[in-house]
Amino acid sequence: MCGIVGYVGNRNTVDVLVEGLKRLEYRGYDSAGICFFTEGGMAVKKEVGKLIQLEKKLAEEKVGGGTGAGIGHTRWATHGEPSVRNAHPHLDCSGRFSVVHNGIIENHAVLKRQLEEEGHRFVSDTDTEVIVHLVEKYFEGDLGEAVRRASLELEGSFALEVMSARVPDEIVAVRRGSPLVIGAGRGEQFIASDVPALISHTREVFWLEEGELAIVRPEGVRVLDSISGDPVRKAFQHVAWDAQQVEKGPFPHFMLKEIYEQPGVIMEMARREVLFQGAPPERRFAGADAVSQIYLVACGTSWHAALAGKRMIEKMTRLRVEVDIASEFRYREPILDSKTITIGISQSGETADTLAALQLAAEKQSAVWAICNVAGSSLTRMAETVFYTQAGPEIGVASTKAFTSQLVALYQLACHLAEVRGTLPVSAQERKDQLSALAKQVQEILQKDEEIRALASEYCQKRDFLFMGRGIHHAIALEGALKLKEISYIHAEGYPAGEMKHGPIALIDREMPVVFLVPQDAVYEKVLGNIEEVRARGGRIIALAEVGDERVATKAHHVIYLPKNNTFLISVLMTIPLQLLAYHIALQKGCDVDQPRNLAKSVTVE
Ligand code: AGP
Repeated sequence: MCGIVGYVGNRNTVDVLVEGLKRLEYRGYDSAGICFFTEGGMAVKKEVGKLIQLEKKLAEEKVGGGTGAGIGHTRWATHGEPSVRNAHPHLDCSGRFSVVHNGIIENHAVLKRQLEEEGHRFVSDTDTEVIVHLVEKYFEGDLGEAVRRASLELEGSFALEVMSARVPDEIVAVRRGSPLVIGAGRGEQFIASDVPALISHTREVFWLEEGELAIVRPEGVRVLDSISGDPVRKAFQHVAWDAQQVEKGPFPHFMLKEIYEQPGVIMEMARREVLFQGAPPERRFAGADAVSQIYLVACGTSWHAALAGKRMIEKMTRLRVEVDIASEFRYREPILDSKTITIGISQSGETADTLAALQLAAEKQSAVWAICNVAGSSLTRMAETVFYTQAGPEIGVASTKAFTSQLVALYQLACHLAEVRGTLPVSAQERKDQLSALAKQVQEILQKDEEIRALASEYCQKRDFLFMGRGIHHAIALEGALKLKEISYIHAEGYPAGEMKHGPIALIDREMPVVFLVPQDAVYEKVLGNIEEVRARGGRIIALAEVGDERVATKAHHVIYLPKNNTFLISVLMTIPLQLLAYHIALQKGCDVDQPRNLAKSVTVE
């Protein structure tokens, strides 16, 4: 979704803004723009399409750029088509104020009508433009105060930055709903909607909290409560990620790099064994109010992890676990009370639907926990207990290492809760050994990259794919289908293999590849039966099976063999070939693997 950058200091502002925006490209966008100072005053440059178009424009127009304040934005259209007119930054009538904004201003229509009646002229179709006209209206010499008063009139969610020709070394930023992080340098400050945009300049950062407003000047940052205007004290935190982690390094794509990072991530999770931060989980399992049910709430890939997590937690703890898609959870009146734990699962920790679902859970007295990859994100700040996935920054829009790290975190959590409840203890040491072995097995599977690439060239022209699995592997089948469809635009569906004969079997013909996940578990024979059903109808079968499984080889057209592991951890192994298959098919079709069309990395609108 939209990305925001801001800079005040003595460097070339245009260079810093464009570099920052490049680091946010992964979030997905359709136009980009910057506002900065030149010798002639405040200037705005915008372009539709990728950042390269904006860079071309800057080069053609020989834009040098000066120092002082500058703001930049990548826009993912919500109100108004992607166009130069609708791209940010937006200016007021006088051209003295400039704004960039993430989120949605819900009362923009009412505000626009009022402002037009007062004589303001609008030039875009966006909800954002009302903000800058409000600032123009309230400005009486103090930009911070004008932005504060304007923000009080806004309904909805937003993160915004405002700069003005009247104060060339100041940016005012406000957060309500969408994230904003501020990074400190020496005599310079950076603002961004996400850490990767500023990590190459500084690792000393703080996040604005809900309703906070920052007045950012080269010498320092003043933070106020945007409602009361009272000062707020903030402490800088040191970010553990480094600049190298947000570079592709020798890999052609972030997605491939992140697939290859998985053994390291799992090893790290095994080694650190840091299960949680915040309130100890066990305190929810004692006394009269002991927890009786868990909700796992998430979107997209994280929802698939939740489906797998249900299997792990229920089996190991004998606690009832329900799984909900976050955008559905709020509207179905879920039964929540103080004996419930609602766990939000999210890579980014900024997914609007997940945050809103957890907000509802908290209001209904449920404990709120998080499984999250981004320290300091909104989700981690609203949860009493946080389990970090420790995957490092994930830049590719298609989630890979975040997913497998969620599976590992859920496994660790299930084992820990089982220990607490005395249901099925897997000791911390056993867990550590299992996960270290798992990391090595993932490394082994990555050696099959070439085999999977060859398979991809055989199948990349297909129009549809089915993915079948049972039990926990149904979740992995769904994830395999999502990976393929989001980056290659091939229609793909994941199904519980036993359901096939209740409908999807009608789709099977010689043109239909069906990927079967076939671990040697309790339903192995049943899955072999499902494979036979596809075979009898001419479908092409790709099987992921355990090493040494000869029977599957007699039925499938291709078998990718995987090392053996327990019922739960083998789901991690099954995931890897599916990620590689999707990657190679997308690549061979010439798709933009890291930034697939229409998608955003962090979905910050409901
Ligand atoms: C995954 O490949 C997706 N692009 C998407 O489904 C993602 O998992 C979803 O938007 C949830 O994001 P989150 O984990 O950051 O909350």
